[in-house]
Amino acid sequence: MKAIEIRNKYLEFFKKHGHAVIPSAPLIPENDPSVLFTTAGMQPLVPYLLGEKHPEGTRLTDYQKCLRTNDIDEVGDNRHLTYFEMLGNWSLGDYFKEEAVAMSFEFLTKELGIPVEKLSVTCFAGDEDCQRDNITADCWRKAGIPEDRIYFFGKEDNWWIAGEEGPCGPDTEMFYDTGKPKCSENCNPSCGCGKYVEIWNNVFMEFFKTKDGKYTKLKQHNVDTGLGLERMTMLLEGKQTPFDTELFKPVMDKLLELAQIDDIASRRIVAEHLRASMMIILDGGLPSNVDRGYILRRLIRRMVRHLRKLQIDLNELSKLIELNIETLKEMYPDLLKNKERIKSVIIEEKDKFEKTLERGEREFNKIVNKLRNEGKDLISGQDLFTLYETYGFPPEVTADLAKEQKLSIDSSEFDRLFKEHQEKSRIGSEQKFKGGLSGSGEMETKYHTATHLLNAALKVVIGKDVHQKGSNITPERMRFDFSCDHKLTDEEKQKVETLVNEWIKQAIPVTVEEMKKEEALKSGAECMFIEKYPDIVTVYSIGTVSKELCGGPHVKNTSELGTFKIKKEEASSAGVRRIKAILE
Ligand code: SER
Repeated sequence: MKAIEIRNKYLEFFKKHGHAVIPSAPLIPENDPSVLFTTAGMQPLVPYLLGEKHPEGTRLTDYQKCLRTNDIDEVGDNRHLTYFEMLGNWSLGDYFKEEAVAMSFEFLTKELGIPVEKLSVTCFAGDEDCQRDNITADCWRKAGIPEDRIYFFGKEDNWWIAGEEGPCGPDTEMFYDTGKPKCSENCNPSCGCGKYVEIWNNVFMEFFKTKDGKYTKLKQHNVDTGLGLERMTMLLEGKQTPFDTELFKPVMDKLLELAQIDDIASRRIVAEHLRASMMIILDGGLPSNVDRGYILRRLIRRMVRHLRKLQIDLNELSKLIELNIETLKEMYPDLLKNKERIKSVIIEEKDKFEKTLERGEREFNKIVNKLRNEGKDLISGQDLFTLYETYGFPPEVTADLAKEQKLSIDSSEFDRLFKEHQEKSRIGSEQKFKGGLSGSGEMETKYHTATHLLNAALKVVIGKDVHQKGSNITPERMRFDFSCDHKLTDEEKQKVETLVNEWIKQAIPVTVEEMKKEEALKSGAECMFIEKYPDIVTVYSIGTVSKELCGGPHVKNTSELGTFKIKKEEASSAGVRRIKAILE
């Protein structure tokens, strides 16, 4: 069954069961700087899981474009992908365990025709935060899953939350038995040997986890499910990897035809990163040195490096993009309309990288030869640093190359040298950063700095637990969402406003530095989802008032901001308030 047929069957099935089909949110979250990319179908739905009314009702279904970046370096094996599509259905305070399980079972066995014998399921075993999920297990028994294929596990396996804080709950996962022999007597769906492949997750979201690790009950019980389309396609087409399905095969074959040497891992990396890059660009992403742009840059650069490794002429890239668009156009018709734009972004980035790469790879090979002659297998921090400093090789590129040569790298020595270098060149880096600001309007830049001041003022007035939940800036105004359990009183609003204006009057300089992510965190810099940032981050400080991980741009001094005025304070979603403010 082709991927698009599975997607259509899914949406039709849930429509038949009373769900409204909603469109996929963009891969780049709208008005939400707190996350780099959409990583799950539930992400755009968080306010509704917390209790806000969704205009389409209480039963929803969609396919969601997702990107997960924690495993970039794993891509190349037989299963990891960065970009993937997640099919999902939601109950927002509507049905719960019984109906969710019954529908999942019916869809898998009747619509997709998976034999019951192929299915195993896991349920939450229970702990001090939440009881054992016997109800779900009973639902599976009733559906027809035999006792010996119903497993119970703890939070590591059967609890789902996006990040550290947010709506969450016990889940039940469905596994497909590939028919491989058991790896041991105790082989089970959680062991990861490859016998069991996870195909679907139903999360029973009825809790909220706060930053300090406490669980509270949500206003309503929700169901949040996610089914990975590429994986399901692979299983239903009887393939061993997603790269053998029709989603990747045309590009994989073309790469084999063009390559002077074959290396399946490199072909997978090229095929995967090309698709992911195209999807990011389609939704408005552009390569840069921070945040989302940095991820895109990293994907394109890694792809280019592996094209070169396969000894494929880089001029073929244009045709490879066209071929990929042909392959995917039925699933994503917008790709066709944006063909030229996608091509030009990727090719421009390739051109930039090519120059660096040739010089860097020559230097790298010299280092490897030297090490081999000396009988060593560790690339020194100094060599790593030279590659970074002189040849523009980010450490992760060197690490990647080193892995292929079975060499290790001395990253702690690199970190030390990097820090030393940062101290020396802080002024230089401030200058460099300023150069990159030209794209942003003057007012947006001012509002951007004002959000940092507002964030800091709220912490002083309301409390340290206030955290930014999102922001949106136009040349006319700023909007700022933050966690807070009550409507702000007039007095609180007044205090916040006064404090921000005091800081503006104090004419505090705004400074920027680049540092390793871990260090930034240790230094107490404020940020929303640390794991979403690249290894090297920019941190903005406003005197001692504020310190935040941020891509900028910002004004140089708070005195440039004028007068700050709160225009409105309102609820955004449960536990989240929204302030609209202007600068005059
Ligand atoms: N949010 C859950 C997941 O990503 C189910 O969709 O697995």
